Amino acid sequence: MPTTTETAITSPIGRQTPRIDGPLKVSGTAMYTSDFPFPGLLYAVPVEATIANGKLQKLDTSEAEKMPGVRAIFHRRSIGKIFRSVLQPNSRSITDERRPPFADDVIRYYGQYIALAVADTFEQAKAAADAVRATYTKEKPNVDLDLQPDNEPELIQTGRGPLNRLQSQRGDPEKAFANAPVKLDQTYVTPAETHNPIELQGTTALWDGQILTIYEESQGVFNLRSVLAQMFGLPTENVRVITKFVGSGFGSKLWPWTHCALACAAARQLGKPVKLVLSRRMMFQSVGHRPRTQQRVRLGATTDGKLVSLIHDYVSDLAMLDGYRENCGEATSYQYSVPNLRVHWGRARRNIGSPTAMRGPGAVPGLYATESAMNELADQLKIDPVQLRVLNEPKVDEGKGIPFSSRHYLECLQVGAEKFGWSKRNPEIGSMQRDGLILGWGVAGAAWISGRAPAEANVELRDDGSARVACGTQDIGTGTYTILAQLVADKTGVPLNKVEVVLGDTSLPPGPISGGSLVTGSVVPAVFEATDNAITSLLTVATTTPAPPFENRKIDDLAFENGRVFVRADGPANGVSFPDLLRRANMRLVTGNGKSEGTFDDKKPKVSLHSYGCHFAEVTWQPAIARLRVNRVITVIDGGRIINPLAGRNQIEGAVVMGVGMALLEHTVYDRQNGAPINSNLADYLMAVNADVPSIDVLFLDYPDRDVNPVGARGIGEIGLAGIAAAITAATYHATGARVRELPIRIEDLLKSSVLA
Ligand code: MOS
Repeated sequence: MPTTTETAITSPIGRQTPRIDGPLKVSGTAMYTSDFPFPGLLYAVPVEATIANGKLQKLDTSEAEKMPGVRAIFHRRSIGKIFRSVLQPNSRSITDERRPPFADDVIRYYGQYIALAVADTFEQAKAAADAVRATYTKEKPNVDLDLQPDNEPELIQTGRGPLNRLQSQRGDPEKAFANAPVKLDQTYVTPAETHNPIELQGTTALWDGQILTIYEESQGVFNLRSVLAQMFGLPTENVRVITKFVGSGFGSKLWPWTHCALACAAARQLGKPVKLVLSRRMMFQSVGHRPRTQQRVRLGATTDGKLVSLIHDYVSDLAMLDGYRENCGEATSYQYSVPNLRVHWGRARRNIGSPTAMRGPGAVPGLYATESAMNELADQLKIDPVQLRVLNEPKVDEGKGIPFSSRHYLECLQVGAEKFGWSKRNPEIGSMQRDGLILGWGVAGAAWISGRAPAEANVELRDDGSARVACGTQDIGTGTYTILAQLVADKTGVPLNKVEVVLGDTSLPPGPISGGSLVTGSVVPAVFEATDNAITSLLTVATTTPAPPFENRKIDDLAFENGRVFVRADGPANGVSFPDLLRRANMRLVTGNGKSEGTFDDKKPKVSLHSYGCHFAEVTWQPAIARLRVNRVITVIDGGRIINPLAGRNQIEGAVVMGVGMALLEHTVYDRQNGAPINSNLADYLMAVNADVPSIDVLFLDYPDRDVNPVGARGIGEIGLAGIAAAITAATYHATGARVRELPIRIEDLLKSSVLA
């Protein structure tokens, strides 16, 4: 691990920094979407289809319409025109459910909206929605769990444009597998999982003539604006989206969902502001989920553990109309060195709401499969699983044939193994014990994309010594407000508590989606450039100040450091603080803009940009009562330079907790008869809670990745969830002898243990 920091010790970059928005949140003064009051605000509650496949025959709204406080019961014939949006070439206008709400009478998933009740209070709207009667012609829904790929061409239309089903190929994988002295051929299954942010999704929509303003807890306000402009036939500049705080999202709030268009349409029809907040049940039906995946992994190896072939065939399910695909193969082509490889995918349509991105989409289920296969191969070869990974470390990204920007995967494994005490591992099943409990140890690797999306920012330096930085990205709770303040404080010397950060509004300079772990990497260059330009403006002001020490000076003679403008030759001590300079010049502020390009559209990238990591997990097994607990996790992350180690560690800890849920608890269950997600509440959808949380130790290698930005910082919101489930299932096998290849691990699986009392 690098031991010296490259910035001065006083720099806020790399310093443990409590969130600057923390006091607002803990005191309840942070304004979330549904907190904004408006005079005359009406409340909307959608009516959900109670079948998953069929046709709406009759909608009886007569009773509901007569109920107290009811303003309207909207349906297909009364909601007004809602246009269809399409993907824009600059990859704006993404949505995973393209069909406008109420567009036809076909029901394709349980919970699809068929009507909307609007009333003076939430309770009145809810009562009216419940009083709407629907009659259907029903077909049996297809929610089959076995995912055989639909018969589709090799080039598929997806929600993000056309994609080839053959994702990656090199050498002759079939032949190499057939001839390999050691073979593994297994199928791994991950279930549908539902994001469960504490803040429910919702929209408050206001029309002022042809101007639409919405408050929405969005992970991407500019994308949402672009979709809404199309759906309501408005010029983009006539739509404004505001998202001040988000009570987390995990991907469910990345792209617009149909309730948002319904709120906008209802507000338009009634000429009043309308608020629509989903119920927890609706959050399981109509705002996305991680799709179920079925992944066959074939590994061929030599007897001394060198991979000769890797074949990864995966299928994920998707909704009847839409084009989502789960990119389980993202990490497969580069994570290990193997001369013969094929990654190929397919999809299986089901009567479910559209899946969407959920924390570490693709790579998280994908690495669960491939890392599990690596662990099983290690057992088969009787090689230490860490050693197997060391043996197959690639020198370059073999999928793209380009060097890695900065990869320290082996150091992650080495540091983690040492911290965990891995050398004391006895690989024999059920052989390790502590305090009367059987211990199981497992390891797995992690990888996740890094890079930049386009970003713009504006920075002001003001005569009261404060600074302001504005960018239209959002903070979904990960610490973006704080990071932007740290960046400006670093460049200007303005203390953190005097940096105002303004985010989450399409009237600000365009910023990236809060997704893909890309905000931190993306905003650094734009914020730095904006700050530099504000500083240049200050120096220009100094050159026009006809008083010492600046009279007759050119801009090249001047410098700025730690909040002071000075003549280079004289040094900072003889300079003037920037608020003093502004006051002398009778100016309130100077300002600067910055803009940076993205890396993802690069057709011929020169380096492979990713973060890496590994997890070491310990489970305890109590055979007498078949009780399995995750006891201890050590996670090591190679995520570039960490700007805020406090918030950073917090992201990884949260991901590990989610990983415990993924391995042991989380799955959305669809009723085979009516297609409803039946555990659609926080009591029946099990997630890891405090009592499930193991002791978690997070270590960052902290190597700057200068290919991403000048600080070398990458986003780290998702990497911590990659691979963790494979480490836990491996530890479970080590303790119990039960090899589980379908998540989550259930008690039934553990009763197959060879280590029972
Ligand atoms: Mo993340 S699934 O990109 O919010």
